[in-house]
This record gives sequence, C-alpha cells and structure tokens, in this order.
Amino acid sequence: MQQAEHFYSSSYILNKGVGKLILTEDEQAILDGSGGNAAAKSMKILVALGEIYGAEKLIPISSVQIAGVSYDNLGDAGLDYLAELARDGVVRVLTTLNPAGMDMRDWRKLGISDEFALKQKKVVEAFAKMGVITTCTCTPYLIGNLPAFGDHIAWSESSAVTFANSVLGARSNREGGPSAIAAAMIGKTPAYGLHLDENRKPTFTVKVKTKVESLSDWGALGYALGNASEGKIPYIMGLPHTSVDNLKSFGASVITYGGSPLYHIQGVTPEASEYKAPEGKTVDITDDEMKKAYKALNDDAADVDFVSLGCPHASIQEIAEIAGFLKGKKVKDGVELWVATARPTKAIADEQGYIKIIEDAGGKVATDTCMVVAPIKGRFKVMATTSAKACFYARGKNKNQVHIGDFEKCLNAAVSGRWN
Ligand code: F3S
Repeated sequence: MQQAEHFYSSSYILNKGVGKLILTEDEQAILDGSGGNAAAKSMKILVALGEIYGAEKLIPISSVQIAGVSYDNLGDAGLDYLAELARDGVVRVLTTLNPAGMDMRDWRKLGISDEFALKQKKVVEAFAKMGVITTCTCTPYLIGNLPAFGDHIAWSESSAVTFANSVLGARSNREGGPSAIAAAMIGKTPAYGLHLDENRKPTFTVKVKTKVESLSDWGALGYALGNASEGKIPYIMGLPHTSVDNLKSFGASVITYGGSPLYHIQGVTPEASEYKAPEGKTVDITDDEMKKAYKALNDDAADVDFVSLGCPHASIQEIAEIAGFLKGKKVKDGVELWVATARPTKAIADEQGYIKIIEDAGGKVATDTCMVVAPIKGRFKVMATTSAKACFYARGKNKNQVHIGDFEKCLNAAVSGRWN
C-alpha cells in the first residue's frame, strides 16, 4: 500500500515528465495516508487522472453528483469497493446520488425483488455512511444541489453535467462514478478539460431553422445535434428562450447521441454572450432533420405496454401537467405508467394532490430510480416516452421498441394502450 501511494507522489510525476501535477503539502500528506485509506485511495485516483490529462494542480469544488448507484450496474464488486471506502471515508463537499435501481421505500410496487432490494440498500447505506445525501436523482439541481455560475464541480450523471455546464455555467468534466467519489472525499478535482476557459469555447455553429416547441421536440433536436456534432461544442442560433424542463431534456439527448457536455445557445445560456458563432463547421437543423429524428426515435409497434415519463427526473411543473391530463382517466389494464422523479419533488407533488391523481388513474410515481437503471429488462416490450435519452437506453439496455412524443401523446398511449 505504502509503495503504491509513493508511486503517485508529485516528485514521481514531475520526474516522469508526462504530467505536471504539483501537489500541495497537505495533498501529498493525504496521498501518503495521513487522512486514512479511503482518502489516500481517492487522492491516488485524482492524481492519476490529473497526470493523464495534463492538469497542473487540483482545484476546490463546491459539489459532487455520483452516478453508477444502481446495484444492477455495480454488482458485488462495486458494492465491495464502496463498503471498503465507507470504513473510514467521509465526503468533504455537498454530494448527492444519481438514481438507484429501485424506489428505496416502495420497491415492490415497481416489481423489484426483495433480493435485489437488499443489495441496493447496502449500496445506499455505504454512501450514507460516507456522508453523502442519499436523495437519488439525476436532477440534483432541482432539489438543492445547485452550483453557482463559475463553480467548479465534479458530477458524473451525463444529463446533469450537461445542464450544469450549459444552463448554470458551472464547470464539470463528465466524471466516472469512482472519480466523482474520489473528488467528494478530497473536495477537489484536477484542473483540466471543461474547468479551463480555453476548453469551453464553441467549436462549431448550429443554425436551427425549424420550430422546437414540445418536450419531445427538444429531445429530437438533441438527437439531431448530438449525431452531427462529433463531440464538438456547439454555438446554437435560432432557438427561443425556453424552460428549464426543455433544456434538461435537450442536454440529456445531446450528450446521449454523441454531443459534448457543454452547449451554448445564443441569447439563452449564460456563457453564449462571451462568444461569436465560430467559422468553419456549420450544421443546419431544418424541418427535414427533425422529421428524420422523430422517425429514428419511433419504432413500428402500435401497441404500447409501458409509458415512462420523467427522464431526466420530472420537475414539479411536469408532474402538475401529467396530473392535469390524468384527472378522471384510467391507465389501460396491461399498460404500466411510471413517472420518475426525485423524492423531495414527490413530497411537494403530494402536498398539491398530484400524486393522488396519478395513482388514482393507475400510474406509479417512481422515486429514487428510473426506467433505465431499474432491473426491468424483459418486463416490457414497447415503451412510450417524451425523452430521446430514454429511447436510447430502453432500446440498448432493455431491448424495448420505443415511441417518442409529447406528454399528451404518451399519456393517451397509457390510457388507450395504442400509439397513434
Ligand atoms: Fe435520469 Fe434515468 Fe433519464 S438517470 S436522465 S431518468 S436515464
């Protein structure tokens, strides 16, 4: 162990001539074990990352969002790793969790086995022991983990990273689960990538020449843009001022389909005013591109057996809209409707009476989880959703056919069992 720690000492890195990372005395001491095993392991991860990406120093962060929480993804190896960290590890900054594989209190209503629940609870307990706030949501910015403009953060949920960078103007690379945990344990991250001014500039121009209105339109736009972007940072022109809900759906889609975790929209996002449209690569998104996106995101099956809303997790406004539509209606027998949201958002919706309306209609409000991270492969054949990101994972992970449309269209499918 000692040997491994010294292997990553700053002098080693300087001598190696690859990275330039210089640690402070305190950081070096943590690397050498002064803060315990979990802190030393975490520092080792940060130093290795910094070395790979040419960071010169570690910088303080204000918050962390950890993805990879579902036992479905972690398995026993992941659980063992977390248990080891939890023995003496404590997070140093505000840290929240991404969705887990089940509703942490009411997993049976979502058809999750007690066997899976036991493992999932151990995962979340390990995080709780480290001082992590165990609200499991991909929209931490809606429930109190809300960084300020210019804050450095270390988040690992791709849609949340994209929202934080683009809409809030905070600065995060797209962390992996282990590097996010490491950053939380140390309260710092290596200064590279999107933490640096020079890497936040737009590198191609997008001209939107079509109407983008509903939530699913924003998802389809993200699909078209993500596919065309080759990982470059877009400077987007021609879009109207819009809601947080549309922007969270858009960002989730852009990053899922190959875009960068940062976009600038002229007149809408906070850093756009610092730049002009870059010369060179320019992409037009016309009615044609949107039609192609919708076609690509809709399969042929006419019967729908699963309607999944809240990807990224639904806001209170979205839940109000869903309840407004469902009032007095019934979800068809044989169709399952999930509305995924954060537990605190559900609490507000409960106060407002929205949850009762959704449940009276036969819908299920799924907190702490979602259709992608829950172990539901094989249960449903055809999913309807407002989210282009959900389409991607439902196809790839759950082997579903999919349909995308606005809330009304999806909820009509929940009531009729048909996609019209
Ligand atoms: Fe969130 Fe699950 Fe979608 S984590 S962004 S609801 S795939």
